[in-house]
Amino acid sequence: MTGAATGAGLFISFEGIDGAGKSTHTAALAAAFEGAGRSVLCTREPGGTPLAEKLRTLALHEDMDGITETLLMFAARREHVRCTIAPALAAGRVVLCERFTDSTFAYQGGGRGVDWTLLEQLERAAMTNLGQDGVFVAETAPLVPMLTLWFDLPPALAAPRMRGGGDRFERAGAAFFDAVRAAYARRMTSAGGRIVRIDSCAPKAQVQAAMLAAVRAQGWLP
Ligand code: TYD
Repeated sequence: MTGAATGAGLFISFEGIDGAGKSTHTAALAAAFEGAGRSVLCTREPGGTPLAEKLRTLALHEDMDGITETLLMFAARREHVRCTIAPALAAGRVVLCERFTDSTFAYQGGGRGVDWTLLEQLERAAMTNLGQDGVFVAETAPLVPMLTLWFDLPPALAAPRMRGGGDRFERAGAAFFDAVRAAYARRMTSAGGRIVRIDSCAPKAQVQAAMLAAVRAQGWLP
């Protein structure tokens, strides 16, 4: 299963540092798809299934080393894909997912300094053979979204917009978020056009217009 081979469904992810406005933009895109007659599933990571939500609570609130954190993120993600995302795509729905693997490269790779090559290896292990129950069948490309909207803005502008839930990541300082942002940019260079950067310093209406333009460019909305 790859981003291009998910039947009639559409798989779109939303990325950016905390406070970049992903939830608001996800809701706006959901409304646009529903207006066009599509069935939409909005979901988020880490989470999206009962087990993945438990892993989320651990990852966001317990202190742990960066690799343990990475493993929890991929464990939650595999569960999320198998139980929630893949069935929705198979049913032809539009899946709008706040955060996916790019967040792991950005936060654990950029923010926490986990080795990039190790992340690529873990992505290959966790995001392939998704229809198999733990059986490794064949080396395939990891599942990635069909389109990723990266809402980019400097940490200094995002900080005041944070909802202030106070998880471990939201308490990280500006240097952490600078590194996260740089890692998104690095990930984008090897994404072959899948990741579209949306300048999110602009007013909300302008950001959402850019988001809709990126989706229309794929031919997915009138
Ligand atoms: P959340 O409150 O959902 O933040 P946001 O609204 O900004 O998405 O918390 C998710 C946090 O988990 C966020 O700070 C980023 C972090 N995270 C990772 O570090 N790695 C990951 O792979 C994912 C999916 C999230």
